[in-house]
Amino acid sequence: MSIRFQENIKAFHLGTVKSTYVIQILSSGHLANRYWGEKLEADFQDIGPMDRAFSPFLPGSNLKSLLDSAKFEYPTSGNGDYRIPALHMKHSDGSTILDLRYKSHKISAGKAPLKGLPAVYAVKDSEAETLIITLEDKLKNIEVELSYTVFATYDAITRSAKITNGGKDATEILKAASAVIDFDHSNYDLITLPGSWARERSISRAPLRPGSQSIASSRGASSHQYNPFVALADKNADESKGEVFGMSLVYSGNFEADAEVEQDGLTRVSVGINSFDFTWRLESGESFQTPELVLVRSSEGFGGMSRIFHKLYRERLCRGKHQYSDRYVLINNWEATYFNFNEELLVSIASEAKNMGVELFVLDDGWFGKRNTDNCSLGDWFADLNKLPAGIGSLSEKITALGMKFGLWFEPEMVSPDSDLYRAHPDWCIHVKDRPRTEGRQQLILDFSRACVREYIVDVMGKIFSSSKISYVKWDMNRHMTEIGSAGQRETAHRYMLGLYEVLETLTSKYPDILFESCSGGGGRFDPGMMFYMPQVWTSDNSDAVSRLKIQYGTSLVYPISSMGAHVSAVPNHQNHRISSLEFRGHVAMSGNFGYELDVRKMPQEEKDLVVSQIKLYKEIRRTVLYGTQYRLKSPFEGNECAWNYVSDDKKDVVAFYSYVLAEANRRTGKLKLAGLDPAKNYKIKGTEEVYNGDYLMKVGLVTPSQSSGDFKSSFWHLQSE
Ligand code: DGJ
Repeated sequence: MSIRFQENIKAFHLGTVKSTYVIQILSSGHLANRYWGEKLEADFQDIGPMDRAFSPFLPGSNLKSLLDSAKFEYPTSGNGDYRIPALHMKHSDGSTILDLRYKSHKISAGKAPLKGLPAVYAVKDSEAETLIITLEDKLKNIEVELSYTVFATYDAITRSAKITNGGKDATEILKAASAVIDFDHSNYDLITLPGSWARERSISRAPLRPGSQSIASSRGASSHQYNPFVALADKNADESKGEVFGMSLVYSGNFEADAEVEQDGLTRVSVGINSFDFTWRLESGESFQTPELVLVRSSEGFGGMSRIFHKLYRERLCRGKHQYSDRYVLINNWEATYFNFNEELLVSIASEAKNMGVELFVLDDGWFGKRNTDNCSLGDWFADLNKLPAGIGSLSEKITALGMKFGLWFEPEMVSPDSDLYRAHPDWCIHVKDRPRTEGRQQLILDFSRACVREYIVDVMGKIFSSSKISYVKWDMNRHMTEIGSAGQRETAHRYMLGLYEVLETLTSKYPDILFESCSGGGGRFDPGMMFYMPQVWTSDNSDAVSRLKIQYGTSLVYPISSMGAHVSAVPNHQNHRISSLEFRGHVAMSGNFGYELDVRKMPQEEKDLVVSQIKLYKEIRRTVLYGTQYRLKSPFEGNECAWNYVSDDKKDVVAFYSYVLAEANRRTGKLKLAGLDPAKNYKIKGTEEVYNGDYLMKVGLVTPSQSSGDFKSSFWHLQSE
C-alpha cells in the first residue's frame, strides 16, 4: 500500500519507492502540506500551534495565527492567506472569498482517466493508488476534489483538482491551479526551460528571491517561449546529486507556474492553467476539471529526476502501437524542396533514400490547395493536382511500392484567409466580432472549441487516411492565438484545448496504425499533453547540429528520447548557415528519432556511403537510444563539450556520444566517464578489440579526442557485453 492514514494527527502518507508526501487535516479542517522529501517510514509529528504578530488569527484551531504562512494543500484567498491562491472564484454576490475545509476522503486502487484531458495512466490497478480528498466551502456550496495518485514504483505522484458548484447560483472560476506545493524554505534554485522559435528549452537556473517569480504562456499553446515545467533544486544539485523537485503540467495550452517566497522564506509553488484572461462559468451542478500536475522528486540530481520523467512518460503517458516501436528512419522533403516539388521529384528522392536504408518518406507542407508559398490554402486538404496529378492516394501507392512507408504533413488547426474553407466559413476562425483578425504566417486559427469545426477536420483528414496508404502524420501548428473570442472571451483558449484533445483522441483511436508526430513550428508544443496522443515530437525547426546539442539536452530534462525527432539536414544549415560535417550531424541526430531532411540525390558518393552506414548503425542502436536509460554526462550549457550515454535495461548494450563545439590549439585528449553501466560486466567497443570493465568505464572513462582537430567534432561508441 502506497497510501496510509496516520490516525493520531490525521495525516495521509503518500509513499513512492524513494519519496514521501504528507498531507494533514488540521483541527480547523484546513488541509496542510506537511512534507515532501526523502522516504519517511516514521509517523509524522504534529508541530503544534505557532504564533506571530500581524498574522490573521483563526480562533480554536491548531493553526493559530499562521494563516498567512502555514503550508496549505489547496489555498484560497480572502481570509488570511495573502500568498498566491490555488483557487480563486467570484460568487454571484460579487464576493471572492472561499474557505475550504475537509469533508471526506476516499482511497482506491488504480487511477481513473481525467475526462477530456490527457493524463498519466495506470495499466493495472495494482500499480497505482489514488487518494481523493474532498474539501468544501459550506457557505457557497463549492466542493473541491483533490486527487493524488501514487505511482510507487515509478517514483512519481500526480495531482489534479475538480471543482463543483453545488450552490443554486452560477459562479465563476478566476483561477484553478492543478496543484500548489508549499516548501519549507527558499534555499533553492528555480529551474525553467525558456526559449524561442529555433531556440527551444534552454535551461535557466536562478536562485529564488523574496516575492513572486513566474513563467507563463498566454499564446494559446504551451509555446516555444516557456515549457510547462518548473523545478526547485538544491543549490548544490548537479546531474547526479542533490535534491530536485520537478513539476510537469500535462497540458498544451495557456499555463502559469509561480514560485512565491514569503516573509519567513517559505516557498509556494502554484502550477496550472494561466489565470490571466481566464474565467470559467460554472452553472449550478457543474464541475471543472483541472489538468494534471506530475510531481517527481529525486535525491540524485537532475539526472535522477529526468530518468523518472522519461520512464513514466514513455510507459504511462505515451500510448498506442508506436509507444515502443522501432521508430522509422525517415526522410522529409521540407528542407530539400520546400514548396517546389512534383510527384516525379518526390518519388526520385524517396527511391534514392530507400536504397540507402530509409524506411519512411514524409511529404511535408505544400501538397494541397494551391500552396506554392505559405500564404494560402490551409484548410483545403485536397491534393494540388498540378503537383500531384494522380493525388495523394497514387503517390502513397508509388512510395509504398518502393518498399517504404508514406507519411503526410497537415496543419489541421489552421485556415488561410485565401482558402476555399475560409471563403465558405469566415466565422470558423478564432476572432472577435468587428475586430481586425491578426494574422501570423498569414493564417488564422480554426476555432476547435466549435463542434462543426472539429467534425469538418476529422472528416476531411479521415477521407485522406482511408483513401491512401498513410503510416505517419506530422501534425503542425504555426501561429499563436490573438483576438481570442467566440466561445466567451475568457473561456475560449481552454475550450479550444478540450476540442483539440477530443479531435486527437478520435483520430488516434480511429487510425491506430498511424504514427502521429506533433509539431508546432518545431518544438512550440513539446509538452506532456500532446505526448498523450502523439508519442513523437519534432523537437525544433533548428536542425543545425551545434544548436541541437543544447535543444536536445534541455528537452531531455523532462522528455524521453523516444519523443524527440532529430534530422540530418544540409549545410550550410538553413537556420544559421553553419557548416558542420555529415558525421557530426549524424551523431547528434542519432540521439533521437533519426531522419534526414535534405536532397539525398545531390550528395557526393562518399557522403551517400556515409549515410548508408549511419542508417545501418542507427538501426543497430535505436532500441537502446530510444527505450534505454539516458545519462547526461557533459552539459553544452556549461562548456565546450557535450556528452550522454544510453544503457539498455539489461545493461548489456551501451551507446555513448561525445562532442566538442570549438577547437582549441594544443588541447590534449580528455576522459569521459560513462554512467549507469554494470560495474561487474566487461564491455567490448564494437568494431574494435578494446574491452573495458564497467567499473573502469564509470570511474576512469573512455579517452576523448584532442580538441585541436577543427570545430564541431564528435565521437561515438557502441559498447556491448555478453
Ligand atoms: C513548421 C515545421 O516545423 C517545419 O518542419 C515544416 O513542416 C514547416 N512548418 C512547413 O510549413
